[in-house]
Amino acid sequence: MAKRIDVKDLDIFYGDFKAVEGVTMSVEPRSVTAFIGPSGCGKSTVLRTLNRMHEVIPGGRVEGKVLLDDQDLYAPTVDPVAVRRTVGMVFQRPNPFPTMSIKDNVAAGLKLNGVRNAKILDEVVERSLRGANLWNEVKDRLNKPGAGLSGGQQQRLCIARAIAVEPQVLLMDEPCSALDPISTLAIEELVHALKDRFTVVIVTHNMQQAARVSDRTAFFNLKATGQPGHLVEIDDTQTIFSNPTVSATEDYISGRFG
Ligand SMILES: Nc1ncnc2c1ncn2[C@@H]1O[C@H](COP(=O)(O)OP(=O)(O)O)[C@@H](O)[C@H]1O
Ligand SMILES: [Mg+2]
Repeated sequence: MAKRIDVKDLDIFYGDFKAVEGVTMSVEPRSVTAFIGPSGCGKSTVLRTLNRMHEVIPGGRVEGKVLLDDQDLYAPTVDPVAVRRTVGMVFQRPNPFPTMSIKDNVAAGLKLNGVRNAKILDEVVERSLRGANLWNEVKDRLNKPGAGLSGGQQQRLCIARAIAVEPQVLLMDEPCSALDPISTLAIEELVHALKDRFTVVIVTHNMQQAARVSDRTAFFNLKATGQPGHLVEIDDTQTIFSNPTVSATEDYISGRFG
């Protein structure tokens, strides 16, 4: 199920502003790839091009290619809604549907896809909540609103909602930045477990987190404010953190800038 992503010569624009330039990289299936780099270098922007969320922003467009197992996501025949089903996304702030019950939050995507069978819905809700390490905490209150959960639980609920539709890739944009350390640990353990089934790309400003959860790390940088961000290098996480090829990576990792 998990798919590989190949990005080729990708330029990303907001109107006339070229925010990211010349990204070429591959993301391996069933692995966790971390995006790191200073604020404004384009990590979120690149992430959003991987499921065609970037173009939702007025003026948002791309040049270049994003391939999902050789399928060009930007080919004219491709339906962006279908892409977003295949490539799920979890955001910085947990965003459960606040008035919907926990169960309905998880089932929302399936219902949109036309699934009505109560038994199937119940099964998927349980499987997804288990997959998100949340089942034991919520199984006795599935009909209570999602907004009643703690921040960390809400984020795991959003992950359950994302995996309920069986995506092949899961994108996460700083999913722990609004969470306390205990919840962060829970999400990190979950990310580690998710790679058995999904291709995971996670943006993080926390380098320890990148080192803990990812197999591969991509370091992005920008030459100056107003200049486009670019990919400096991508490699095994161990290599990036112990023996990077480019000196700018080492400077960033060791806290000399950013
Ligand atoms: N909605 C937007 N409209 C215009 N410019 C944007 C928008 N979002 C981000 N940018 C610009 O794109 C560049 C990259 O931003 P972003 O991808 O958010 O960086 P990061 O996630 O690495 O902090 C920045 O210069 C930022 O100001
Ligand atoms: Mg960002």
